[in-house]
Amino acid sequence: MQGYFITLEGPDGSGKSTIMKLLGEYFQQKGIDFIMTREPGGTPIGEEIRNIILDYMNTDMSPETEALLYAASRGQHVHEKIIPALREGKVVLCDRFILSSLAYQGVGRGLGIEEVKRINDFALRGIYPDLILFFHVDPEVSLSRKTEKFGGDRLEREGSEFHSRVYDGYMELLEIYPEKIERIDATKSIEEVLKQSIDKIEQLLNLRRG
Ligand code: TYD
Repeated sequence: MQGYFITLEGPDGSGKSTIMKLLGEYFQQKGIDFIMTREPGGTPIGEEIRNIILDYMNTDMSPETEALLYAASRGQHVHEKIIPALREGKVVLCDRFILSSLAYQGVGRGLGIEEVKRINDFALRGIYPDLILFFHVDPEVSLSRKTEKFGGDRLEREGSEFHSRVYDGYMELLEIYPEKIERIDATKSIEEVLKQSIDKIEQLLNLRRG
């Protein structure tokens, strides 16, 4: 694949969506062809699945159903949007991807990292990020940033125990895949977090350009 696939990961309220917008401006200024997208969602079908997953009225959803819905949304996303953009040589900037499923469903819901990886492998057709930026911030801090503002969706309404399991999941994943994940210190100012992110992205772009 010719393009570059970059995903942004981290706990709820880690500030990655703000940085994502700023990275979009950065690519624009540099004249780099890119698309911005997000999960769950990113396609019309995916957005419909997103509404089902995040609807706080869906209190009876089983962990397995939840994991399969995220994977289904991802499968459509890869097929309809990510592969075509990468084939055109674009940078694909995606807010959350497989690492979220491994942390939230694999560890947060207790389904197991390997089990969740297996259903995602089926959906992904060999497409993995070239770079994963992990926005590292304490889960208590990040969650209070979010729920202070509004009631929160189904996942955000989960208790702090769930979110601290997700955090532990991310920590475990950083240990399992150290070469694939770049840790960004998201407790710093927006300018500094942006700079750290751009440094990692430039390393990737320069590496391939040789
Ligand atoms: P969103 O509003 O996009 O959250 P954020 O702004 O924090 O990225 O909602 C996505 C929610 O879904 C978020 O709580 C994380 C969760 N999630 C999973 O549990 N598994 C996944 O595979 C993905 C992509 C997201």
